[in-house]
Amino acid sequence: MSSPENIHPTFGQLLGREAKEALLKQRGLVVWLYGLSGSGKSTLANALERRLHGEGVFTQVLDGDNIRTGLNSNLGFSDDDRQENIRRIAEVAKLFAGAGMVTIASFICPRNELRAMAREIVGPADFLEVYVECSFVTCERRDVKGLYAKAKAGVVKQFTGRDSAFEPPEAADLILNTDEQVEGESLEQLYRAVHPRVARPKP
Ligand code: ADX
Repeated sequence: MSSPENIHPTFGQLLGREAKEALLKQRGLVVWLYGLSGSGKSTLANALERRLHGEGVFTQVLDGDNIRTGLNSNLGFSDDDRQENIRRIAEVAKLFAGAGMVTIASFICPRNELRAMAREIVGPADFLEVYVECSFVTCERRDVKGLYAKAKAGVVKQFTGRDSAFEPPEAADLILNTDEQVEGESLEQLYRAVHPRVARPKP
């Protein structure tokens, strides 16, 4: 761990967020999607990104594909590793949002303590907490990645919802139920929550 007395922040000299948001003509935001594996988070994250991009909004998706294969490739699925996973992601998302980017995070983030930590790191004003709700039974039936079958066979351990806890949310700003809604409905609801937060008022 680094000693704080040897770190000399240069925040005051950096080009500010306002200038970057003005350049991009948008506001930075972290859209924090979470839910069980197979609940539809990635599908919604990608669909939201494409829709916003089509409207000229600068975005970045953070998900297992680009985070757990790189920055967090040394982390597994113990409680401690999941916490460190979320801590690093929230720090990255904070930097991106501070640069004016609309950052769409898509992770299981299984416990309320982790969601609260992410909100705290990013800063509540920049954080939109979205629970992608879907029953374990439906996710298991979809089994997009074949992991539910592997978990059932005991090949994949510490699997969320099976032998690792997933807590229902306490502070979600929005809940999208993909058991009940088709993709287009969930996307529409998500877009309506996000769009007013990222659009800059006309000068
Ligand atoms: S989190 O709990 O730390 O937020 P994260 O979203 O990064 O998890 O990673 C979850 C993804 O990793 C799943 O969608 C799945 O593809 C894969 N995975 C591999 N092993 C596990 C496991 N034991 N539990 C859950 N997901 C796993």
